[in-house]
Amino acid sequence: MTDLFNVEDKVALITGSTGGLGFIFAKCLAQNGAKVILNGRNKQKLEEVLQELSSEGLSVAGFAFDVTKTEEIATAAQTITSDFGPLDILVNNAGINLRNPLHEFDDEDWDKVIGINLTGTYKVTKAFVNGMIDKKKGKIINIGSMQSELGRPTIAPYAASKGGVKMLTRGMAADWAKFNIQANGIGPGYFKTDLTKPLYENAEFDSWLCNRTPSNRWGNTEELLGALLFLSSDASSYVNGQMIYVDGGLLATV
Ligand SMILES: NC(=O)c1ccc[n+]([C@@H]2O[C@H](COP(=O)([O-])OP(=O)(O)OC[C@H]3O[C@@H](n4cnc5c(N)ncnc54)[C@H](OP(=O)(O)O)[C@@H]3O)[C@@H](O)[C@H]2O)c1
Repeated sequence: MTDLFNVEDKVALITGSTGGLGFIFAKCLAQNGAKVILNGRNKQKLEEVLQELSSEGLSVAGFAFDVTKTEEIATAAQTITSDFGPLDILVNNAGINLRNPLHEFDDEDWDKVIGINLTGTYKVTKAFVNGMIDKKKGKIINIGSMQSELGRPTIAPYAASKGGVKMLTRGMAADWAKFNIQANGIGPGYFKTDLTKPLYENAEFDSWLCNRTPSNRWGNTEELLGALLFLSSDASSYVNGQMIYVDGGLLATV
């Protein structure tokens, strides 16, 4: 039974893992014996988190690159593959949100949100997937959101990007299942990170969310780790193109 969820010695890259959920994902995979490569754009932040995890005896490395920059991604893919071999696990987690009513939304901001959340997921995966195809094994985990399914005022571009991530995940499964690659997604409900700071600091939103969520509370970040380990391991070897929503029941109710 334990072997089902085993990720020992697997090589895993988690984009956007210097903060919030990505950091928790990286730490969990490293604690379970994976060789983890962390990522973010800010090199200093990356050094700090690498030091923190290394001081706990975890096997971690880091590579700073921007998931929107094709050349930076290509260099990262070349170096990471030559240092560690092809990836076993890729978690496309880097993401941002910019809030404004759609009729006032800036074109540049639209490009930023779609560029990082959706096109970034495509570009990073494309740079690493050939290694998985060659060895006929791989796990891709794309981080969606409640907005993979639901709209919400002021965040239409984010919803478009996360709805896109859900459909991109299905497309990846359709093209790559035959290579024994499983592409799935995790759709987190609401968890307290830098991304959701404007929400949890807003008493009105906090109260709305706790009433709206059947579990009547925010999620604890550790509550995402079961889905992460399931989708990273042989336990999910015949699960493909699916989103697992970890949301305290929010999507199940109106
Ligand atoms: N928190 C939630 O409740 C929640 C709910 C649903 C979905 N999500 C999703 O979960 C993911 C992580 O969110 P979070 O809450 O952990 O956010 P966060 O705390 O703001 O962390 C975002 C991470 O992404 C990195 N990043 C941003 N742009 C990047 C780029 N262009 N290239 C590489 N790295 C980049 C950031 O590092 P740098 O700034 O150094 O690059 C940081 O490490 C996102 O996809 C988000 O949409 C979160």
